[in-house]
Amino acid sequence: MSNKMTRVDYTYLTKAIASLTEGEDDVIALMATFACELHHSDDRFDWTGFYRVTSPQMLKIGPYQGGHGCLQIPFSRGVCGAAARLGKAQLVSDVESFVGHIACASTTRSELVLPVWGKSGALLAVLDIDSDQPSAFSQTDADALAKVLASVFSY
Ligand code: SME
Repeated sequence: MSNKMTRVDYTYLTKAIASLTEGEDDVIALMATFACELHHSDDRFDWTGFYRVTSPQMLKIGPYQGGHGCLQIPFSRGVCGAAARLGKAQLVSDVESFVGHIACASTTRSELVLPVWGKSGALLAVLDIDSDQPSAFSQTDADALAKVLASVFSY
């Protein structure tokens, strides 16, 4: 049995998503493709998906990969709510230490959530990645993913 870890190549991921979504402007289709490609690119990613801004101060689940996620998250709650409220990436090395973390799965140990900005500059959604590994994510992941998200949703 191979113990080789699969790690995302963000340059390849950017090109793959661009190729798969060429000419597409439907946001749900873009999110579904993004979640699928990202989720399967790296063994650290155990839940990968979007929470969409559906009304002021409210997030609702969007396309995702992994076990079921909670359907609604107000901006006042959770790691996703913090990313939406503050407009900043939330890099959580230990979810147990994040006050108000919403555990959709008891196995989650670390989490990365990024704001997703639309073409108008408004907040469109947040991208949530959960890992069963502690301290799975780095600032390099956050910075690289922000660029990939912008290439798909902001231009
Ligand atoms: N952990 C997130 C909730 C979404 S589930 O993990 C998919 C949060 O605290 O906002």
